[in-house]
Amino acid sequence: MSYYNISLAQIRKNVEKRKKKYIEDDSFLFGKDEYSIGILKEVKNNFGEILTRVDGNIPTSLPIETGQRFLFISYDQTRGSHGLHKYPAKFFPELPRWLIQKYSKPGNIVLDPFMGSGTSNVEALLLGRHSVGIDVDPFAKFLTKVKTTKLDVEELEESTDFILKSLIKYDPKKIKDTDLPIFPYRDNWFDKEILFELAYIKKLIKNSKYSDNIKDFQLISLSSIIRSVSNADNNCTRTVIRKKLNKNIYPSMALTKFAETLLLNSYRMREFSSIIDTDISVEIPNDNDARNIKYPANYFDFAITSPPYANAVDYPRTHQLEMYWLGLANGSLTPMKKQHVGTESVSSDDYKILHKIEVEEADIVIENIFKKDPRRAYIAYKYLIDMEKNLREVHRVLKKKSKYVIVVGNNKIRGYNFESWKYLMKLSERIGFKVDNYFGSEIIKHFIKVPRDERINTDWIIVLEK
Ligand SMILES: C[S@@+](CC[C@H](N)C(=O)[O-])C[C@H]1O[C@@H](n2cnc3c(N)ncnc32)[C@H](O)[C@@H]1O
Repeated sequence: MSYYNISLAQIRKNVEKRKKKYIEDDSFLFGKDEYSIGILKEVKNNFGEILTRVDGNIPTSLPIETGQRFLFISYDQTRGSHGLHKYPAKFFPELPRWLIQKYSKPGNIVLDPFMGSGTSNVEALLLGRHSVGIDVDPFAKFLTKVKTTKLDVEELEESTDFILKSLIKYDPKKIKDTDLPIFPYRDNWFDKEILFELAYIKKLIKNSKYSDNIKDFQLISLSSIIRSVSNADNNCTRTVIRKKLNKNIYPSMALTKFAETLLLNSYRMREFSSIIDTDISVEIPNDNDARNIKYPANYFDFAITSPPYANAVDYPRTHQLEMYWLGLANGSLTPMKKQHVGTESVSSDDYKILHKIEVEEADIVIENIFKKDPRRAYIAYKYLIDMEKNLREVHRVLKKKSKYVIVVGNNKIRGYNFESWKYLMKLSERIGFKVDNYFGSEIIKHFIKVPRDERINTDWIIVLEK
């Protein structure tokens, strides 16, 4: 007799429905011959501006005029290993797919110095390019490792089956208090029943007979449900509890959600594992930083990245609960935060005076921010200093004539438009890059309607040449 009466048949049925929807919604263009297909037409956005709309895969032959604006419609955001886990400001796969094809050749080595959840690395792998992904965030490294590791399909099936059967045998008596991880405010973040269920799942995974690759994949699947079964808001990049939300968390929720996610993710990993080539490498070095890339000069054939925004997402805080459960963090997150480009963790001694980056347009904005908020002005200044270090490092490790593509948006700091892309172009030229091209991209998922009176944020894509 099981503790909660969970029906595996019902879980399988639910997953079949979700799978069907996901297959119909997305055309899963990656790994298929349709690589070169992309439907082009001119459209106007709500502000009357003309955009070139490209549906699905972006053709490598797409003509680009400097300053042109595109509307890219993505279909593959949750396909294959791309769909294993959410990540803030993730690339849509068609973008690195297009640029990697355009600016590198099979067998080349591609770098993403701010790799995040590794979208570029997954795409490089699918396109037969070796790649290196750098990130200071332990969660990003763990996630990318899982997303780029081929699994043995038989072992995947067997281990998924084993976990599902063990889930319905759940009994809280099998879990002792000492099985629960210790982290700040744990009992506020999670209800007691959920804590025990999550600890049971983690123990099942850790103690099973399966390979480490399978266990890591299962841990990422566990991680992907943690926010939704916690008391924190599901849809906020910061991890916060909002009483008004009245989130409906109920006993057995972690077990059933995990069972569904594991089944769906196993399907995704099967899809991914069946099309990748094991001769292609993905390196995720441990002690690198986008400002200190421990690779020789002239090593890479191409680099592509989307760096953090100044003063925007606090990555360690976004994934704090996931990291506590995965054993990637404990206690204070401050030392981790300090390593991040764009960090808000700065000390008051630093922002007593106004600093100048010596890029005129940036210095005007930084001075305006300083008048209202010296701390934010310093954060913005430090962001540009750090990005300049990154530009220098990538310039050093790239081969001559190779390209570095940076995808970056604008943001507002204290009411002032902080146009990072413009300042980054100036900094690039200062350190020896040539600006080859730049253009705008507005991105929507094909089934999301364009919000009426709201401007979609434009990302700017800067193509630099060494
Ligand atoms: C916008 S995200 C990249 C998202 C990525 N393109 C994707 O598809 O998932 C920026 C990343 O930069 C990382 N980062 C911040 N500071 C860094 C540093 N000093 N060195 C390397 N990575 C850093 C953050 O951890 C975050 O994962």
